Amino acid sequence: MLVTGRTATVAPATAAAPPINSAARRVFPVRLWWMTTTFTGLPAPFPQCASREGAVLHSPPCRPTTIAVACVTPSSRCVARWQSRLSRPRARTDTKGPDGCSRYSPQWAPDRHLARAVRPLLRPWAVAVLAPATRGDPMSRRDEGRLAGKVACITGAGSGLGRAMALRFAEEGATIAAQDLRWETADETVKLLDGDGHRAFGGDVSDEGDMVSMFAQIHGAWGRLDVQVNNAGVSRLPGDGFEEMMAGEGSQITLMGYAAFSKMMAIHAGGTFLCTREAVKLMGEGGSVVTLSSIAGLSGWGPVHYSSAKGAVLGFTRAASKELGGRGIRINAIAPGVIDTPMTADVDEAMLAPLVMMTPLGRQGTAEEVADTALFLASSESSFITGQWISPNGGLITI
Ligand SMILES: NC(=O)c1ccc[n+]([C@@H]2O[C@H](COP(=O)([O-])OP(=O)(O)OC[C@H]3O[C@@H](n4cnc5c(N)ncnc54)[C@H](O)[C@@H]3O)[C@@H](O)[C@H]2O)c1
Repeated sequence: MLVTGRTATVAPATAAAPPINSAARRVFPVRLWWMTTTFTGLPAPFPQCASREGAVLHSPPCRPTTIAVACVTPSSRCVARWQSRLSRPRARTDTKGPDGCSRYSPQWAPDRHLARAVRPLLRPWAVAVLAPATRGDPMSRRDEGRLAGKVACITGAGSGLGRAMALRFAEEGATIAAQDLRWETADETVKLLDGDGHRAFGGDVSDEGDMVSMFAQIHGAWGRLDVQVNNAGVSRLPGDGFEEMMAGEGSQITLMGYAAFSKMMAIHAGGTFLCTREAVKLMGEGGSVVTLSSIAGLSGWGPVHYSSAKGAVLGFTRAASKELGGRGIRINAIAPGVIDTPMTADVDEAMLAPLVMMTPLGRQGTAEEVADTALFLASSESSFITGQWISPNGGLITI
């Protein structure tokens, strides 16, 4: 962006595009590229490099040397892509990549017929020779995962579900902004993550100043954000009448102070609003927001402040999906059942046991199971899902 006086002019996208690398084209002509990928049955290691009309071969990452190496002795990056794609079913209907290149163009139908014959010979070789070459290479994993190249912010990442999500997302190639009320716990999470470049942030999600400042730092560090998970939360607060209820003084609603009720709303609904508002400013055109509700918000099982706050998160998710859909930003909620985390470890066994007994799968869920749900919603695997909730609850709630 060029800033002149008080007016800002956005430079045309073409000006920022990497120049066509004619040297690369000489080293590895596009037709040869296509034939190679077609004959092996393996997608182009750098699909963004190959255009059907042969126009685009650019850097990064397509430096001539990279292409030559990929052609003769495949680089570890390229091998990792092949290795991962070999283990997944090929999407035969996916004729265009994000770069607009057609991988299975009818123009190359003769190549495909020949490829069908050659493929069975080459694939076992590729699996046997190429796969072991990248085993244990963390860099290749970061290039390959379902969130490769994405920046993800997770609130409440110093414990339980947030930490499990941070670990899972980093495994899938994301760079993590781990946030927690206690910075030290977020930092502990960062130290456990695969790869470099992750950062820990402190602050209270219900404090507007804290959150505006954190997202400004995220902007400063990475210039953008692709995934936002609004996970931070509590299930109890001082003054919410829980202790008194347990002592038999009456129902919790009559014993709950308004301050505790408001604070619960501020953390869950307010924090979700503040973080989403700031996050989508950094998302440009496209991104995924995941909010944490609960079966308490779906069914009313839980104290009134917690159930109200989690219900509000669902309402927010639905309304925001309608506003943000036009920008390609999806927002979905997870409404977990009883999950084994420090939050539930605090809960009295007498309260937890009946819930577990009523769960058809007969156990509590694990943080990793919820993290997998979050990964699905954060990744492009859920690209046509927005404004919805999904409930990993072992069958406890079926609505
Ligand atoms: N564990 C469950 O069974 C369960 C079920 C349904 C929903 N949830 C929801 O999932 C989310 C994560 O729960 P968990 O089980 O991992 O709990 P947890 O207590 O293990 O982790 C919550 C984290 O959020 C942080 N946090 C709390 N208040 C904060 C604030 N104001 N600002 C920033 N960070 C704050 C805490 O420090 C903690 O690290 C919560 O929103 C919770 O309500 C949990």
